[in-house]
Amino acid sequence: MGKEIWIGDVQNGVHDGQQVTLKGWVKRTRGSNKIRFLVLRDSTGTIQCVGKRDVLGDEMFEAVKEALIESSVHVTGTVRVDERADGGHELDVEAFALIGGVDPERPFPVTESAMLTEDEEGNMVWGGSEFLLDQRHLYLRTARATTMLKLRSSAFGAIHQYFRSHDFIEYQAPNFVAGAVEGGSTLFEVPYFGRKAYLTQSWQLYAEAAMPALERLYTIAPSFRAEKSRTRRHLTEFWHAEMEMAWSSNDEIMEHGEGVVRHIARTLLDEREAELTSLDRDLDMLARYADSPYPRMRYDEAIETLQGMGVDVSWGQDLDYSKEKVLTQDFDVPHFLTHYPKVAKPFYHRVDPEDEQYVLCHDLLAPEGYGEIIGGGERTWSEAEILKRIDEEGTPREPYQFYIDVRSYGGVPHGGFGLGVDRVVSWLAGASHIREVIPFPRTSRRVTP
Ligand code: 4AD
Ligand code: MG
Repeated sequence: MGKEIWIGDVQNGVHDGQQVTLKGWVKRTRGSNKIRFLVLRDSTGTIQCVGKRDVLGDEMFEAVKEALIESSVHVTGTVRVDERADGGHELDVEAFALIGGVDPERPFPVTESAMLTEDEEGNMVWGGSEFLLDQRHLYLRTARATTMLKLRSSAFGAIHQYFRSHDFIEYQAPNFVAGAVEGGSTLFEVPYFGRKAYLTQSWQLYAEAAMPALERLYTIAPSFRAEKSRTRRHLTEFWHAEMEMAWSSNDEIMEHGEGVVRHIARTLLDEREAELTSLDRDLDMLARYADSPYPRMRYDEAIETLQGMGVDVSWGQDLDYSKEKVLTQDFDVPHFLTHYPKVAKPFYHRVDPEDEQYVLCHDLLAPEGYGEIIGGGERTWSEAEILKRIDEEGTPREPYQFYIDVRSYGGVPHGGFGLGVDRVVSWLAGASHIREVIPFPRTSRRVTP
């Protein structure tokens, strides 16, 4: 058992002229009764294998013919350099074994050429047909889906690396909670032994409880939102990278938001250039996302800009997807929007001492029409103020008693943010829909497979 040879290495010239045994899956197959061309794939790449009846003998040649698309196989052969071949190499097959076959009555149902369809809004999306969503467990093997999963992995790695290298401690909060963080309208209620519980919308409130212990903390965990909105950027279960930091201002928190996003972009360029190129991403543009500073703009200025563009938006509204899409279409790097009206944000946001209409917060909006990828800011940190804000909102105090207590014992100025990892990967990959970057997307219409 085990696997020693990877197709990616073969294509990189590591095994030229050598006899190797490749283990993988059949991606395509064609040929005659005398010669078969079989494209083999593994997690690292693809290579064409050429099997001849006169080399293999009848029995092994028949096994090659039987190996339908997505059969798993062992192929032994000699690596030949061939400039005309995809990837520059081919394998002359000398031995062949079928490991896990495919029933000819039920051929592999997913075809790479049928992955792009039009959605309700007339956008072309990958893998979005009901058929492909039903076949998601098989769809994951397509080149595009595999590429997205690799980009995703690099993004997760980059986030851990960023926070750990800046002395943040990884910290876990419960997923069953008693109250809302981001407003009641997107809460998932779950029966909990005769009581009601909710799935958490954010790690934040429990992170604030540990802030006096750890001072700088972060997580990457799922968050849940009962989002009915069917946009290209909403999931009901998404991966949330959040940080909380003691003794910090809105500006200092934004520096880390910018820092982590730039580090993700840089890491994708360093680790996944081939994947980004295969998605037709502009590498210079991605380098700009990694290197250029992100401008900051007040909410009021964004509203004026939108109104100037003829968008119907009024002061006091939080910006939804349709508005952010218009605003960010022509951005060349992400932009921060700061100082939202108090009425547009939940109670935990700290009121701006210079003007009580506003809170000291920020959203980071990604360019190319992707919109919000980060939401954060300073927290209401004194006991008196948090009680006032909770009461103002008409929120019951009871589920938040622990949150209030934290402020009764040595409250300090602090803040943090939440970054939607799926949204960031979707934007950097140029995905047609957030669904593309998560293996089994959960949306208002689907919890299967
Ligand atoms: O702006 P949000 O709601 O902020 C919070 O949850 C804060 N408590 C975070 C904090 O300060 N610790 O969510 C943060 C980010 C959004 O900017 C977005 O990127 C992502 O989470 N997000 C979603 N991603 C995918 N699908 C959804 N339904 C999302 N809702 C939020
Ligand atoms: Mg937000």
